Amino acid sequence: MASILARRLEGKVALITGAASGIGEKAARLFSRHGAKVVIADIQDDLGQKVCDELDTASSATFVRCDVTKESDVENAVNAAISKFGKLDIMYNNAGIAGLYRPNILDDEKSNFERVVSVNLVGAFLGTKHAARVMIPNRRGSIITTASVCAVIGGMGSHAYTSSKHGVLGLMRNTAIDLGRYGVRVNCVSPHVVATTPMAKGFIDMMGEVEMGKVYSAFKVEELTAEDVAATALFLASDESRYLNGENIVVDGGFTIVNPNLCSYK
Ligand SMILES: NC(=O)c1ccc[n+]([C@@H]2O[C@H](COP(=O)([O-])OP(=O)(O)OC[C@H]3O[C@@H](n4cnc5c(N)ncnc54)[C@H](O)[C@@H]3O)[C@@H](O)[C@H]2O)c1
Repeated sequence: MASILARRLEGKVALITGAASGIGEKAARLFSRHGAKVVIADIQDDLGQKVCDELDTASSATFVRCDVTKESDVENAVNAAISKFGKLDIMYNNAGIAGLYRPNILDDEKSNFERVVSVNLVGAFLGTKHAARVMIPNRRGSIITTASVCAVIGGMGSHAYTSSKHGVLGLMRNTAIDLGRYGVRVNCVSPHVVATTPMAKGFIDMMGEVEMGKVYSAFKVEELTAEDVAATALFLASDESRYLNGENIVVDGGFTIVNPNLCSYK
């Protein structure tokens, strides 16, 4: 339990998509420990309800079934935050899928591309739009989207995943300018591989032989955890980041700033 002084989201209401598992689940637990009332939105009913029941402040958390590709579901989840807790301070667009990995575009299917873009990018658009609807009248709010290192480099994820995450950055930057006019902040957190989540396990399996030591080569610290990403989201959600808008915080231990083929520091 965070101490009263350290409760960085006291009195705030947060909606987190994709909060039944992985990074979103850790964020729900952390935000709750820091005093937030949390709406858990996901398509996995049982897991989502379980996370909700386990939060420190179970009575101040609720689960809403929400498929982020459906506007009516996202609208309903935002409305649930308002009807249950009276307001929405933090919208965390975190739901995402990896889709199928196709090393050759000739084998890639349009349906796979559209599915990934629909969840990762259209889902973030709908979350941002409906959060803005209720935040603009209050002249404040923090909208966060989980992007990825695949939002800033090519060649790591699939075409669909990389495109969707680059798109998320563009959406974040554009809406940061639009919503900044009303005091609503929009930012991204971009993790490197968090190997423990179901999504990353699927990605690693698809990649075949991957030396995890090389994945984290730029930073000789144990592997990145979902808690590390949640902690960055907590910072973006809290008033400590009150002047950050249009920012993408890359949580990768320096992975994306070096070319390992031409590096003086081995
Ligand atoms: N794990 C990583 O290595 C990694 C790295 C960079 C970015 N990310 C991003 O982090 C986010 C969370 O991924 P994770 O690793 O925790 O994966 P995860 O699979 O553990 O969690 C994703 C959650 O999103 C939910 N979800 C999927 N489709 C949905 C939909 N249509 N509507 C609502 N919820 C839906 C799933 O049910 C699941 O609970 C994703 O946006 C992902 O792209 C993950």
